Amino acid sequence: MKINYLDAFSDNYIWIMESEGKIAIVDPGDAKRIHEYIRKTGYVLTDVLITHHHWDHTGGLEEVIEEYKCQAYGPSGGHIKGITKPLHDNENFTILDRYKFRAFSAPGHTNDQLSYFCGDTDKPILFSGDTLFYAGCGRLFEGTPEDMLFSMDRYKELPSDTLVYCGHEYTESNLKFAMTVEPHNEEILKALKEVQKSRSINKPSLPSRIDIELKINPFMRCRESSVIKAAEKYSKRKLDNTAEILGEIRNWKDNF
Ligand SMILES: [Fe+2]
Repeated sequence: MKINYLDAFSDNYIWIMESEGKIAIVDPGDAKRIHEYIRKTGYVLTDVLITHHHWDHTGGLEEVIEEYKCQAYGPSGGHIKGITKPLHDNENFTILDRYKFRAFSAPGHTNDQLSYFCGDTDKPILFSGDTLFYAGCGRLFEGTPEDMLFSMDRYKELPSDTLVYCGHEYTESNLKFAMTVEPHNEEILKALKEVQKSRSINKPSLPSRIDIELKINPFMRCRESSVIKAAEKYSKRKLDNTAEILGEIRNWKDNF
């Protein structure tokens, strides 16, 4: 399987998986970009994966379903028009006739958020939508710090070499924030240098990898003493539990 991308709006990525002339796409926010791509390549669109209900991830869904008569996997509940295969936590499904994916609930940014994991590819892959970003996490629009901590802990259980494809190019500002939280963490500076090199030639910073996230992402590192100390210094009080620490780090990032 090859993974390609289209950029959409100011900083969204529409991920495209391709195998033997067939494609599956993740989060078709903009149908126009997909029409252009299919016209240019001649690929057959068979499956769409939706991570959550926000318009920049779903805006093109109905048009794409109508045009290509493909399947659309996504959160159940009926609130997203165009989903043909509603999924629940830990449900498996197969795309492109051979790649088995597991959908799992990853709340925090929204309540309906699903992440998609596949271990059938050369290296395991994850589409994390707007829950896990490279060096960051999504804003808590609907969920609580407890929800986001639950999701971060789920990602930690994935194989460490899992490649992480998220929904936005937020990496550079995330790494700058991570460096403020952990100024002595050299892995963050190393990642920032690499990412700046990619961005300077207009290449995505993605994918990330779970083992990289474990070393640099403050939201994955809320049990590390350096992150706990930084969160307590920011909030000027003692924090009682890991969710509270994550909540303060998220607050800090919102005002960064
Ligand atoms: Fe979102």
